[in-house]
Parts: sequence; structure tokens; C-alpha cells
Amino acid sequence: MNTTHPMPGLMRTQSVTALDQARRIQRIKKLLAEHNAVLVAHYYTDADLQALAEETGGYVSDSLDMARYGHEHKATTLVVAGVRFMGETAKILNPEKRVLMPTLEATCSLDESCPADAFQAFCDAHPDRTVVVYANTSAAVKARADWVVTSSIALRLARHLASRGEKILWAPDRHLGAYVRQESGADMLLWRGSCIVHDEFRAEALLDLKERYPDADVLAHPESSAEVLALADMIGSTTAMIKAAQTRSARRFIVATDNGILHKMRQAAPGKEFLEAPTGGRGATCKSCAHCPWMAMNSLASVETALTTGGPEIRIEESVRQRALKPVMRMLEFAASQKAGVLGFGNA
Ligand code: 13P
Ligand code: SF4
Repeated sequence: MNTTHPMPGLMRTQSVTALDQARRIQRIKKLLAEHNAVLVAHYYTDADLQALAEETGGYVSDSLDMARYGHEHKATTLVVAGVRFMGETAKILNPEKRVLMPTLEATCSLDESCPADAFQAFCDAHPDRTVVVYANTSAAVKARADWVVTSSIALRLARHLASRGEKILWAPDRHLGAYVRQESGADMLLWRGSCIVHDEFRAEALLDLKERYPDADVLAHPESSAEVLALADMIGSTTAMIKAAQTRSARRFIVATDNGILHKMRQAAPGKEFLEAPTGGRGATCKSCAHCPWMAMNSLASVETALTTGGPEIRIEESVRQRALKPVMRMLEFAASQKAGVLGFGNA
């Protein structure tokens, strides 16, 4: 039998690449141990980063639980694989820890949509309102807030504030804000930001896909538009969506969030089928990829560089950090008191 590979050069390149990758992983493991560091990653990052976080005693989760985990962990260095606001939240909570990120360029369209100066003016114009900001904001915006929330506790907090008769100023995600307003009945004034990834999901095409797969449950992140959410069987944070994939009886799911989450869903619910929600309208030939371009900046190579060079490191001006700490701590305390983070959101 002829065992010659039709493209021997290609085969050699592939095995060298795999070897390089294995060596890189070993180097990162060694560096993490040497620096008393822990890797904390978001579900939207690449599967190899998620695997490495878990193999090395780190953590993969949603933005709320990443903050909680980094705060409670004994490591003196946190390596945050995600987007910048996640690294900043870690630093706000842990000024004594070194917080490294693979890149500080990894921003978020929600964060970008809400510059601190304009937000300050918006708040000043509505002094009668309790200021609630999504975690997807800069430290300076958090510093102006009464509360910080993530998608896993937003609805519960709005209900809590409404029950105390408080009116809410909400920023920056208008879709999540509109959803929370509708479900809680709270009086909410909304900033008009949105997520460029979730904005791409198209309701009409989703309806077509549902008709093709009538047995499939639709799981949606509340950063999606109201039209998409109206077609969902379950709405929740990334952790809640993964839990739902595990616990719901459906064998097939259509998933309206960043497709990085599919790695964890497949692990959590082996044997079930996951389809990406459509990002182009009916008949569209041009579609976006449903993957956050900033989450995609995280890689094993950039984690290795961060640990080798000690940077980039998150730094926050101390007076801003101290002001931001209060609403971030409130978020963690509220979440702990509600045992939030999994299920229990919207129609989960
Ligand atoms: P979660 O808090 O649900 O992880 O969401 C973070 C995020 O950026 C979603 O786009
Ligand atoms: Fe921000 Fe959207 Fe990326 Fe999440 S997916 S980090 S909300 S841009």
C-alpha cells in the first residue's frame, strides 16, 4: 500500500503546528504556576482557551461569575480572557491583584456606545432616577452608577428597585433594557446602545428556521432584539442558556448568542444538536459570523505573551476605582442574596 501523503509538506506543517500548540500550552501552564496566576475565561472565547482555563484550575463562565470567581480566588495574578470591561471589573474588585489581559484592544460595542462624559450629563439631567449600568461599561461609567448588573440579575434587580418605588436610568443596552422594562414593569429610561453581535440576529429568518425544525427550542441572550426575543422559548444569561440546554427536554436548540458558547453547550449536553440563529435576513447572501470580534482577539499566543511580559496590565485611576467599587460590590452582594446566575431569568 502506498502510504505517501498526497501533500507531505502540508502534513509536516500540521504536525509541527500541533506540536507548537502543545508546547505553548505547557509553557503557559508553567508560567501560570510560576506567577501564582489563574486563567479566567468567558464562554465566548476560543475552545482551546476554555479548555486550558479548566485544565489549570481556572474558570470559564459568564461575566457575573467571572467577577465573583476572580474576587474569591487566592491567586495574586488574574489573567482575564474576555473583553476589557471584564478585566476592569476584576481590577475594581481586586486592587491588590495584578490583572493581565491578552489584549487591551478587546473592547465591546456597548462599552464604546457609552462615553463617560455623555453618560454623566445624561445622569445629571435625571437626578431623580437610580442609575443602573450593565457590566459592559468602562470603570468611569460604573463610577457614576448606583448599581452594576449583568444579564443574570438585571431583571431581579429591576423588580427589586421597582418594589421600592425607584425609577431607573438604564445604560447602555437598549435591548436588554427594553426586555427588563417589559418583564418587570419598572419605570426605566434607556440609553441607546446595543451589541453588534446580537443586533445581527434576524427574526424573519429565525421564524423560517423554527418552521424547518419545529422540535427545536430557541435559546436567546437578552441583548438580542425584541423581535428575536419574542420567538424565544428561553431568555437568559450565557450561564442560564447553557443550563437550559442541559435541563430542557428538547434534543435540538437554536441558539441566539455568540457562537463561542456552542463549545460549552456541546460539553454540557452531549448528544443534543445546536444550530446557530440566523444572522442574515430571508434570502440574504451576506451574513455576519455571530462571533464577537473582540472576544476573538484572545488566543493562547496572547495569553502566553501576557504572562511572559507581564502585560498588558489593567490599571484604573484609584479615585475612579473606589467609586466604581461600591456598585460592583452591590452587584455581587445582590447576586449572592438572590442565588442568581442560573435559570430564573425571564421565561427560563
Ligand atoms: P453574560 O453576562 O451573559 O456572560 O454576557 C456578557 C456578554 O458580553 C454578552 O454579550
Ligand atoms: Fe460586547 Fe456584544 Fe462582544 Fe458581548 S458579544 S462583549 S456585548 S460586543
